[in-house]
Amino acid sequence: MKRIVILISGRGSNMEAIVRAQIPGAQVQAVISNRPDAKGLEIARSFGIAAVALDHKAYAGRDEFDAALAAEIDRFSPDLLVLAGYMRILSDGFVRHYAGRMLNIHPSLLPCFTGLHTHRRAIEAGVKVAGTTVHFVIPELDAGPIVIQAVVPVLPGDDEDSLAARVLKQEHRIYPQAVRWFVEDRLVIENGRVTVRDAQAGSEGWSVPPVED
Ligand code: GRF
Repeated sequence: MKRIVILISGRGSNMEAIVRAQIPGAQVQAVISNRPDAKGLEIARSFGIAAVALDHKAYAGRDEFDAALAAEIDRFSPDLLVLAGYMRILSDGFVRHYAGRMLNIHPSLLPCFTGLHTHRRAIEAGVKVAGTTVHFVIPELDAGPIVIQAVVPVLPGDDEDSLAARVLKQEHRIYPQAVRWFVEDRLVIENGRVTVRDAQAGSEGWSVPPVED
């Protein structure tokens, strides 16, 4: 059984998608938020999952907080740490500690549009497709070996909210998929690239939904 801990900061819809996927061989042990008012904590509790708030404002700095966070996470001995809308920059020591066993989801087709306000910036740039990326976490922000990406069209008349909603729907599909592959020990990282062992043709790590979606 692979043990999973999920970090959130807010709504928690990706966390919920992973929990609802009921991935065979995996168990979500805990959901931890740096914001005590995160809605996702309530959702986790409703599934009977340990939900922990660790307020970063109560700590002197990033290193102090990350050390406390790692101690809390490690109480659950996770095989995999999942960042799902966790809105804090991680210290290098924290990233090293979970190297090769920490995934993140970012709402853009990396390496484009790292950082915040990805949907607004995609619309402003006039790109015709947008999307989302699940990747292994490295010290550099919104970078690291890419596991899976999903592409959506940017349609005429889109605003930040409509594009975000279209992308989010795909996030809820690809994040459980990436976690499933990890749990099945099928993700191989070589030279900064991920291959999915024994992937079925067409599911090697990218995904294009129908344009009407
Ligand atoms: C998602 O769009 C994710 O890509 C980004 O933050 C958002 C989190 O949403 N990192 P939720 O908390 O999972 O609903």
